[in-house]
Amino acid sequence: RFRKRDLECRRDIEQFIPAFLSIYDSLIPPEEEKAKQEQLLKSLERLVNSEWPEARLYLYGSCANSFGVSKSDIDVCLAIDEQDVNKADILLKLAEILESDKLQNVQALTRARVPIVKLMDPVTGISCDICINNILAVVNTKLLKDYAQIDARLRQLAFIVKHWAKSRGVNETYHGTLSSYAYVLMCIHFLQQRKPAILPCLQEMEATYMVTVDDITCAYFDEVGSLSEFGAQNKESIARLLWEFFDYWAFRHDYANAVISVRTGSILSKRAKDWTRRIGNDRHLICIEDPFEISHDLGRVVDKYSIKILREEFERAAYILQYDPNPCVTLFEPY
Ligand code: CTP
Ligand code: MG
Repeated sequence: RFRKRDLECRRDIEQFIPAFLSIYDSLIPPEEEKAKQEQLLKSLERLVNSEWPEARLYLYGSCANSFGVSKSDIDVCLAIDEQDVNKADILLKLAEILESDKLQNVQALTRARVPIVKLMDPVTGISCDICINNILAVVNTKLLKDYAQIDARLRQLAFIVKHWAKSRGVNETYHGTLSSYAYVLMCIHFLQQRKPAILPCLQEMEATYMVTVDDITCAYFDEVGSLSEFGAQNKESIARLLWEFFDYWAFRHDYANAVISVRTGSILSKRAKDWTRRIGNDRHLICIEDPFEISHDLGRVVDKYSIKILREEFERAAYILQYDPNPCVTLFEPY
């Protein structure tokens, strides 16, 4: 079932471009969804400001990074001064305010790893999670969104990879597989590595955007409108890129030593990051450096069982893209 490494890409790969593009098109959310999300955000902000006039709400995650599929829940961050109150008290107060409005299923999860308030808005039908002061997530959301504007192939690749990961059950951090955020970083890094490169490394360029969050300086070139021709020298199609992406993660990534890094646009060594030993629950079996929290390995959730599943799934995908008569269907078959 699994093919050997070092194989050339099938000659007829380009015939699958239309089918992959139509899968991509079917996943993009319609414009009116965005308007509804903004509308909900505005009404939530009004409610929040009645209690905390200085507080702000930001969208983050897939509803704002341009990698979100249709009908997903939205992630909201409440930015608030928490000098003399703790997060749990803020969340409980927030839940109380929201409850008294027309919102449904309001629930404060104060003991979760990331404490949140959940709610459902009956007007728009949108469910939403509100967390507190997760500003780095707001900033990395902007980074992903900015990368997406440089070359259309990033969004195409990431949507299809996310769709594959969800179909195959390898997008579940609580089962030891990778988050959507990790998959998007894998796609960005992969396109930075193509020859010629399809994406630049924005954090290595002259910074036009800079914020400091919890002592971490986040700086990068964000005038991406000027980079729309960046990837033009590279003519690889979405079909070829998918083949290459899975070939890379199935056969060519050096799991023993390599760390992928969007921040530097290169591969770093586990030794240089001191990610060679298991510390606590961090195992570093597949290493994906967070672009801003650089001590953070997004692969840390992967354990010795799930790494096997993950690599078998990369190999399965590589096999299908090489040999299957109908890869656009087989790739996404439920496991
Ligand atoms: N995030 C993060 N660090 C992580 C995981 C997530 O900072 N280890 C932040 C990122 O800003 C990310 C957001 O939380 O965009 C949501 O993460 P996730 O649910 O993995 O991604 P989504 O893009 O929301 O994907 P999905 O469509 O699957 O909901
Ligand atoms: Mg999400």
